[in-house]
Amino acid sequence: MENINSYPMPRIGDKAPAFEAITTQGNISFPSDFKGKWIIFFSHPADFTPVCTTEFMAFGSMAEDFEALNCQLVGLSVDGLFSHIAWLRTIKEKIDYKGMKNVEVRFPLIEDIKMDIAHRYGMIQPGDNETKAVRAVFFIDPQGIIRTIMYYPASLGRNFDEIKRVLIGLQTGDNFGVALPADWRPGEEVIVPPAGSCGVAQERVSDTSGQLKCYDWFFCTKELSKEEVEASLGK
Ligand code: BEZ
Repeated sequence: MENINSYPMPRIGDKAPAFEAITTQGNISFPSDFKGKWIIFFSHPADFTPVCTTEFMAFGSMAEDFEALNCQLVGLSVDGLFSHIAWLRTIKEKIDYKGMKNVEVRFPLIEDIKMDIAHRYGMIQPGDNETKAVRAVFFIDPQGIIRTIMYYPASLGRNFDEIKRVLIGLQTGDNFGVALPADWRPGEEVIVPPAGSCGVAQERVSDTSGQLKCYDWFFCTKELSKEEVEASLGK
């Protein structure tokens, strides 16, 4: 095996490192098995722990939302396959939490006992824990490129509404060639690409078409309706 210290941390814009894995849904070749889809690849510290259980119930309950966005969820922890299977069965059969019950996790959960995949993706952060993954989230586009990375500590459950918002924001940015402002939600104004010349900067601030709203020459927005955004999602 390669020295784990020889793995660079994956970065935004990098090709997602490829690997073969055993999962709760059979063996997979990642990311090639999910070609043409967005992928949210995430790690959790351990099976049969409370924060992770709440996260899997939240993600499992939202699975249809992510499917509708052409997005495959893939989980990972350094536990083994039988632990994963037993934990997912317990979640479905026994846990009734915040109105969520009978939650069946149908997306693949990778076993990574050797921590090889977790190391490749920078999910093991030894200053925190040498033998458990942190809560990492990688957003990978249909071309296999990493587009967003989030890291949370073991003690803080992720916000799955934010994870969905990020996916919608990435898809909308690509579909319309725009950027999205702080706290953006579909239906709110979007940011047009910055002026690339003095002439365009002047055109922007003197625009009379009524389509642009310029706060200054470098900061212009336009309307993008919720309906237009929704019609474009998942494509
Ligand atoms: C949890 O999921 O509850 C958890 C996992 C590892 C460390 C601390 C909390």
